[in-house]
Amino acid sequence: MKNSYQPTSRRRFLKKTLAGASLSALPVSLSAENALLLSIDSVEEGEAYWRQIRQQFGLRPNLILMNAANLCPSPRAVSEAVYAGTQDLDYDASFHNRKKFGELRTELRSKLANYLNVSIEEITLTRNTSESNNTIVQGLPLKEGDEVVLWEQNHPTNLLVWQVQARRTGFTVKVVSTPENPASPQELIDPFLQAFTPRTRLLSFSHISNTTGVAMPDELCKIAREKGILSMVDGAQSFGSRELDLSAIGCDFYTSSAHKWFLGPREMGILYVRQPLISELWPHLVAAGYEKHASDDIERLSSLGQQDIAKIPAFSKAVEFHEAIGQKQIAQRISSLASQLKEQIQSHFPQATLVTPVTKEMSGGVVIAQFPEQNHVQLFNQLYEQHHIACAPTGGLRFSPTIYNTPEEVTKVMDALTTLVS
Ligand SMILES: Cc1ncc(COP(=O)(O)O)c(C=O)c1O
Repeated sequence: MKNSYQPTSRRRFLKKTLAGASLSALPVSLSAENALLLSIDSVEEGEAYWRQIRQQFGLRPNLILMNAANLCPSPRAVSEAVYAGTQDLDYDASFHNRKKFGELRTELRSKLANYLNVSIEEITLTRNTSESNNTIVQGLPLKEGDEVVLWEQNHPTNLLVWQVQARRTGFTVKVVSTPENPASPQELIDPFLQAFTPRTRLLSFSHISNTTGVAMPDELCKIAREKGILSMVDGAQSFGSRELDLSAIGCDFYTSSAHKWFLGPREMGILYVRQPLISELWPHLVAAGYEKHASDDIERLSSLGQQDIAKIPAFSKAVEFHEAIGQKQIAQRISSLASQLKEQIQSHFPQATLVTPVTKEMSGGVVIAQFPEQNHVQLFNQLYEQHHIACAPTGGLRFSPTIYNTPEEVTKVMDALTTLVS
């Protein structure tokens, strides 16, 4: 399944050496040789490392941005690449100068395929998760009598869009609820098992819910496959926040955006379709050049007319940024910050309801809590206006920390909440 692009051996770990080395120039110019050589043997050294990573971002000083589930800033290397690509196009917008962006697109798809452990033939680019989801929903030739099983916590682009399409073509949508405080992954799986029938053609769920922070078990995809049911994973909250191996997960479709946890350019997304299924899908949009693609060419599904090709090299930089730090390290850091948030919410606010499961097995970077008798929208506004803390009023108060956040910021969030929630 692997393709030609191979990251260097630095991919999965940070080597022990160079404690205190100057990293100011680090992922700004992410060449293959530019390994992250840092000791993370102690917590202190680990924090020094993450501070260096934070410095790669042009964040507003004193702003505590904990809203990765919604939108992330890019590291400078990525935003500079957007700017450089734009300048390049503005300098020479000829067909001749633009040709290289086609090659860069292939290189990017190859890097993404490697990152996700699938083949380049199975990855294409879209504008965001919404578009990727719609490509599958509108592309699959489902008919009356077919059944689609969805998780109640799916984002509207993976719930409402199925319901609208069902009205049009006559298939049936079944929406499945899962327990509020799941005690085990099996409790998340069982309601789906009960919903499947011989008519079920597809199962679609959010990898991690944006409204509760619950992470669905990957195992669902394998179970579906065994029953001859297609599986679609909405990865808006997992791409860039956890270790991903789509081949191991065994899903048929995976969708995501570059501009959330992946820290990539805005309005870029990915779509994975397992090879044998590509030719079964209708395009949701047909533009000039559509017919030059064979039916089993996934690029056929990304026939979108003129796109902002300047962002392609920037998306590549974002992949390099993740590879340089390592998927595992990023996932562990996010998980550690999310755990700190959960622990501190529980200890500071025993009256609050932690909507997100505590266990790492059933959660990711999204942390949601509800504070009794509080207006969460008001709290969300007060946190920003009075304490410079950016979160979201989704499902209660939603904090989604990522690699530019720190344990000190978690403490500051608790201090601010203490002044607001009596
Ligand atoms: C689970 C999920 N799916 C899809 C989306 C839509 O993402 P986008 O607006 O980037 O298309 C979101 C956005 O928050 C989401 O959380």
